[in-house]
Amino acid sequence: MTKLLRRIAILLAIAFALPAQAAETVASPDGRIVVTVDTNGENRPFYRVEVDGKPLMTESRLGFLMADQDKLERRLTIVSATRASNDSTWEQPWGERRFVRDHHNEMTVRFVEDSASKRAFGVVFRVFDDGIGFRYLFDDASMGTTVRIADELTEFNFAADGKAWWIPAGEWNRYEYLYENTAVSGVGTALTPLTFRFEGGTHVALHEAALVDFAGMFVKRVRGTHFRATLAPSGSSAARAVRDTPFATPWRTIRISKDAAGLAMSDIDLNLNEPNKLGDTSWFKPHKYVGVWWGMHLGKESWESGPKHGATTANVKKYIDFAAKHGFEGVLVEGWNLGWDGEWFFNGELFSFTEAYPDYDFEELARYAKKKGVPIVGHHETSGDVANYEAQLEAALDLMAARGVKTIKTGYVTDAHNLRFRHADGSESREHQESQITTRHHLRVVTEAAKRKIAINPHEPIKDTGLRRTYPNWVSREGARGMEFNAWGVPPNGPSHVPTLVFTRMLSGPMDYTPGVLSLEGSGQPLQMTQARALAEYVLIYSPIQMAADLPEHYEQHKAAFQFIKDVPADWAQSLVLDAAVGEFVVIARQDRNSADWYLGGGTDETGRATSVKLDFLDRGKTYTAQIYRDGPNAHYQGPTRFDIAIEQRKVKKGDVLDLPMAPGGGFAVRLVAGK
Ligand code: NOJ
Ligand code: CA
Repeated sequence: MTKLLRRIAILLAIAFALPAQAAETVASPDGRIVVTVDTNGENRPFYRVEVDGKPLMTESRLGFLMADQDKLERRLTIVSATRASNDSTWEQPWGERRFVRDHHNEMTVRFVEDSASKRAFGVVFRVFDDGIGFRYLFDDASMGTTVRIADELTEFNFAADGKAWWIPAGEWNRYEYLYENTAVSGVGTALTPLTFRFEGGTHVALHEAALVDFAGMFVKRVRGTHFRATLAPSGSSAARAVRDTPFATPWRTIRISKDAAGLAMSDIDLNLNEPNKLGDTSWFKPHKYVGVWWGMHLGKESWESGPKHGATTANVKKYIDFAAKHGFEGVLVEGWNLGWDGEWFFNGELFSFTEAYPDYDFEELARYAKKKGVPIVGHHETSGDVANYEAQLEAALDLMAARGVKTIKTGYVTDAHNLRFRHADGSESREHQESQITTRHHLRVVTEAAKRKIAINPHEPIKDTGLRRTYPNWVSREGARGMEFNAWGVPPNGPSHVPTLVFTRMLSGPMDYTPGVLSLEGSGQPLQMTQARALAEYVLIYSPIQMAADLPEHYEQHKAAFQFIKDVPADWAQSLVLDAAVGEFVVIARQDRNSADWYLGGGTDETGRATSVKLDFLDRGKTYTAQIYRDGPNAHYQGPTRFDIAIEQRKVKKGDVLDLPMAPGGGFAVRLVAGK
């Protein structure tokens, strides 16, 4: 159609709300992924997706339920489709890779309703070689000044059954579940990222990008292999998302890859976020830290006051000395502030974020930390009492800034939908971890912290949607079962947990997993991994802040393996997933951002594997010293041979093959030191 004819058709369609014109399509730059947008015989808008000419997603509707308007999903006509393309590269201040390419084709489709009010909205699709993002534009006056969304009707309908890895949405323990591995047609209501593998090997992950001032998206299976978005509820309003126009919703993202590795290497969620809004954030430096932490989870120390109190001036000085001696750049101190006595889980309102226990001399410790060059990592556990935290937020952050703190770990330990908020009119409500109001809270903490050059690491957080690009001081978070479950979890994290996390939770962004428990013993239960695997987790699980979680005395007992934890960086120039099967095994290579050295990590489930790694990624002409930490011949994750580790050195060059057999529940960690 010529431009003029298209214009006339658009004008006619607006004037008479004519039936839909021809379907509109947009393809990925390599042409393999094609998105078609159309309206069906009932004038309901939908999209569908083909990959290599075969249907991946069939007719999947678009629309919303409104709290105070008619449902927005029927009597709709496409009135225009505009296209754009982008191919640019941007630099991350820190990350899994330094440079990120944003190469996509875009199509904005506008719809108008055949009704008296002629409501109109747009949907922008961006199609990359490794997936799709789309979001709704509420930018037309016909929608009114405020849009009150009761729920989202976006569908994700898959053409075939396959396998799925998922955790339930909205359940009491938030994200802290072991992953389910079921048929696609066996998923319930899932949190995202939600990962699928279809016959032929196509891997897909559903998630969202740039979740700002909107309710988080859960994905609910409706029937067969058909899913629908449903928004996290609000505790204070029938509408789950309320926004003044104009606004755009978060992006709904569909990563698509021919293998598991491609899912984990996709940057589409980051690309769909806004560039850095904070300006120069070079004050945040990726680092490793230790902390007064594992001792509490083992029950050897306590958060609360008393004879076992962990956060004492003397104990923290011991940790600062240990950190200074071994090159760590932070000491986390939990249980330093008033409020932990009694049942802290139920008493969030008792936490003071400015008053320390008498045996914790914060001022003196700040002086000592400065002298030793090891900042204290702050801790703000809220027990989910956001009202109490927000009332103290500025003073709490000011105190940390005055004490030289550069990173704060926050915590929201409470059941799902039990975060306590206080509103401007004094009323209170209980909210979900993904409610719209919770998105506002987290951004408030992050931006207030940024004013004080402090980075934030929330536990029991809201899900990550790539906002680290826009707010680079939002450096990590928990949001899955971490190391703490190996202390007291029933059951602890099994060998398949990490090879699953890499392709589920980790698709959303960095995780403060707190690896490195080389003593391989929790509170009365052994860790389900070999010691080489414990080291591998520093490469497998990305975070710009990595904890060495074990007790200093345990590291003294495992000095040879500890060397890898001291050496491994927390910031990368490149990251390559070399080989993987979701939930079974994963092998990752990463290049240090501050040297020419490379690191390798491998991990397997309960099955041992004879893994060989071809060193194709090394620089030609250079010789590297491979410092290898691998499972010994008798290693097995169950029993005393989980400590069987072989540590050896070899000279290698590009193209060489390293044989790195993994024991059941095992793995390997390799440092490749670049020579001349
Ligand atoms: C749960 C966090 O995940 C853990 O790391 C922390 O120690 C406790 N809450 C106490 O804040
Ligand atoms: Ca937790």
